[in-house]
Amino acid sequence: MATEKTFYLETFGCQMNAHDSEKVIGTLRRQGYRQVESEEEASLILYNTCSIRDKAEHKVFNRLNDHKKLYKTGTRFGVLGCVAQQEGENIFARAPYVSLVSGSASYRKLPGMLARLEAGETHITGLDDCQTSETFESGDTARQNPYRAYITIIEGCDNFCAYCVVPYTRGRERSRASSSVLAEARQIADQGYTEIQLLGQNVNSYRDPERKRGFAELLTAVGEVPGIHRVRFMTSHPRDFTREIVAAIDAVPSLCDHVHLPVQSGSSRILQRMNREYSRDDYLEKISWIKAARRHISISTDIIVGFPGETAEDFMQTLDLLSAVEYDCVFGFKYSGRPNTPALTMIDSIPEAEKIERLQVLLDKQREIQRVNYAKHLGQVIEVMVEGFNAAREQVIGRSSQNIPVNFTCAQLIAPAPGSYQLVKITATHPNSLVGEAV
Ligand code: SAH
Ligand code: SF4
Ligand code: F3S
Repeated sequence: MATEKTFYLETFGCQMNAHDSEKVIGTLRRQGYRQVESEEEASLILYNTCSIRDKAEHKVFNRLNDHKKLYKTGTRFGVLGCVAQQEGENIFARAPYVSLVSGSASYRKLPGMLARLEAGETHITGLDDCQTSETFESGDTARQNPYRAYITIIEGCDNFCAYCVVPYTRGRERSRASSSVLAEARQIADQGYTEIQLLGQNVNSYRDPERKRGFAELLTAVGEVPGIHRVRFMTSHPRDFTREIVAAIDAVPSLCDHVHLPVQSGSSRILQRMNREYSRDDYLEKISWIKAARRHISISTDIIVGFPGETAEDFMQTLDLLSAVEYDCVFGFKYSGRPNTPALTMIDSIPEAEKIERLQVLLDKQREIQRVNYAKHLGQVIEVMVEGFNAAREQVIGRSSQNIPVNFTCAQLIAPAPGSYQLVKITATHPNSLVGEAV
């Protein structure tokens, strides 16, 4: 290995992975590593991987294959994250130049694993303690996002939705103490961040191990931290979504006007097969609470099309649900059979062409709903948090409290800094964004 310890880290998957990487980077720096921008410069290449759908999973093996020649020059390889936990030791067989394989539940042991790597070991695993009750906290979090600070409040998942790998890749559900969450929120505010995003696979089942606070109470407490102007949270499971969460959003101004509530399907029959533990009517009842709020709370969702056994009629019910809820944003996915999951034993009855067709119909329908929703913002003045600048278009890029991207022009010569807030008058709409002028 080169004398200077350098690392290249690439992250795939969800915000939980992005935030894990921030903690991993902090841990590596503390161990004397310097981060570099390309694989070629690194003495250690790490991929923090995702296995939620098969395409995501293939990325890591393609990436490893592209760079395996670097092994001969002394570079070492590590696979982290959900593919690591899922495939475990198989990774050494499939890519023999990999020296380290670790799932997220073992990251608190990273310093020890790195020391073994530096001593020349080539078969190091952190896979054994998926059942831990500990959460991964780090005093060295190297935040990569200049305007939004992530805070994990709950790790793992116990829901075992029939299609999903997460309970197998991230282990049992465990909540972090609220005192620790609030201390981190205050520290973030001191560092100048004004937006926090609370993270967990199912934040609604948060249960404070110290004081038995539920999620709505924690959300309120984070929203009241001085200096914090926006609080978001991801993801909510509809079964555990309560009226108290809506009441908290109504009561605490810093809580954003947005709830991401993944429905997955509009058919109660399919929801049951998915083991989601709510029906279409249960879901619509929760939507009615959100719509009855004093604030206009934007709603977004995730949908899987082509789950095993999904008939044309089931799919029609999903389309019909889109109209009933009038989402501001929908993430649609084709069902992808995943290792270890119960849905793998069901017959994947929907041909690929039909899945593609259903996804297209779904997205076309949503496009029209969004067009109508977004048009309602024309002429409004909205507070936008600045995220960046698009030089080609000479537009500032930002986001509303409702989580809608807003691109705007401003008369000032110097664009406002990321993390600052600007009032913007909406003058036009695009399919996935609003357009306006700073006022
Ligand atoms: N914890 C979150 C979901 C995380 S995964 C929740 O329960 O809402 C993000 C999204 O990926 C899911 O909401 C689902 O729509 C999709 N997804 C998960 N597994 C999938 C699979 N096997 N095939 C297709 N989409 C999947
Ligand atoms: Fe997966 Fe379901 Fe857990 Fe979400 S709630 S992570 S979809 S098992
Ligand atoms: Fe992917 Fe793991 Fe997140 S499978 S979506 S990185 S929890």
